[in-house]
Amino acid sequence: MKRDFLDLSDLGADTLRALVPAAARLKRERRAKGPRPLEGRTLGMIFEKASTRTRVSFEVGMFELGGHAVYLSPEGSQIGRGEPIRDTARVLGSYCDAILIRTFGEERLRELAQWSPIPVINGLTDQTHPCQLLADLLTTWERLGPAALEPGKLRYAWVGDGNNMAHSWIEAAALLGLHLSLACPAGYDPDPERIERARRNGHPQTKIEVVRSPAEAVRGASVVSTDVWASMGEEAQATARARAFAAFCVDEKLVGLATADAMVLHCLPAHRGEEITDAVLEGPRSAVFEQAENRLHAQKAVLLWVLGESLLG
Ligand code: CP
Ligand code: NVA
Repeated sequence: MKRDFLDLSDLGADTLRALVPAAARLKRERRAKGPRPLEGRTLGMIFEKASTRTRVSFEVGMFELGGHAVYLSPEGSQIGRGEPIRDTARVLGSYCDAILIRTFGEERLRELAQWSPIPVINGLTDQTHPCQLLADLLTTWERLGPAALEPGKLRYAWVGDGNNMAHSWIEAAALLGLHLSLACPAGYDPDPERIERARRNGHPQTKIEVVRSPAEAVRGASVVSTDVWASMGEEAQATARARAFAAFCVDEKLVGLATADAMVLHCLPAHRGEEITDAVLEGPRSAVFEQAENRLHAQKAVLLWVLGESLLG
C-alpha cells in the first residue's frame, strides 16, 4: 500500500517518535558523502499558495538525497486552467514517485490522494500543516531533550489563531500525549471536532484546553508557539482579525511567564509587531531560525518514509 502523509496520524505515534531522531541524524550527516537513497526518484510539487520554506526544503531535500523535484504552480501549468485534480493525479503518478501539494481545502488534498497511484504529502492546507510540525518537534527535541516527546512531561502553549498550525499541534498532542493549552480570541477557536477527536482517540495522557487568556496558556509552558493572525487566503479579514487578536501578541512580558528555559516557535513568515515582537523573534528564547532550518531535515525524513526507505540510515 502506498504511504500518504496527509496528517500526522498517518505516521502513528511510534513512527513519529522515530522520525524525529532520524531527522536529527540526517542533519548531522548532511555534508557526509553517503548513500543517495532517493537516486532516480522524482517529487512533483503542486503549490496553489505561496511558499518559501516548504518549496525550498523539499526541493533541496530531494536533491541532497539523490533525487529530483519538479515545481508546478497554477499559472504555469494546466491546473490553473481547470484541469481536474483527479487527472493531474494520474498524470503526475505516471512520471513521478511522490506528489507534494499545498492547497486550500483539505478535500482537494484528499481527492488528489484518492486518485494518485503514488504517495501524496500534505504541504499545507487551510486546515493542517503536518510537515511543519515535524520540524517543530525536532526543534523542541533538540533544545529540551527526550522529555519533549514524552507524554505529559512538558507544557506546550499556542497563542493566536485556531488555524492550520493549531490543528496540527492538536494532532501532535493527541499522538504523543502532550499537554497543550491554546489561547485564542472568541470566534477564532480551533475546530471543536478536531479537539474532541484528539481527546477521544489520543494518548491517555493527552490534555488539550482552549483558554481566552494568553497569560494562562503560557504560564509554566516550555514551548510557546504562535503564527500569523491572517493566514493565506484570509487577507480580506486582516483588519478585523488585527482588532480581535490585539491582546494576543507574543511579547517579552508574556514569554516571561513561561519556564526559564522556554523556547518560542513561529513557523514563519512572521509579522513583527503583530503576533510576535521583534525583541522576542530575535531574542534568546527564539528558536525560529533553527525551526526553519529543521524543515529541511524533517522533510528529508518524511520523504524517506513515504518512499519506503529506512529511517535508520
Ligand atoms: N512555514 C512555512 O510553511 O513556510 P512557507 O510558507 O514559506 O513554506
Ligand atoms: N497559518 C499560515 C501558515 C503559513 C506557513 C498560513 O496558512 O498562511
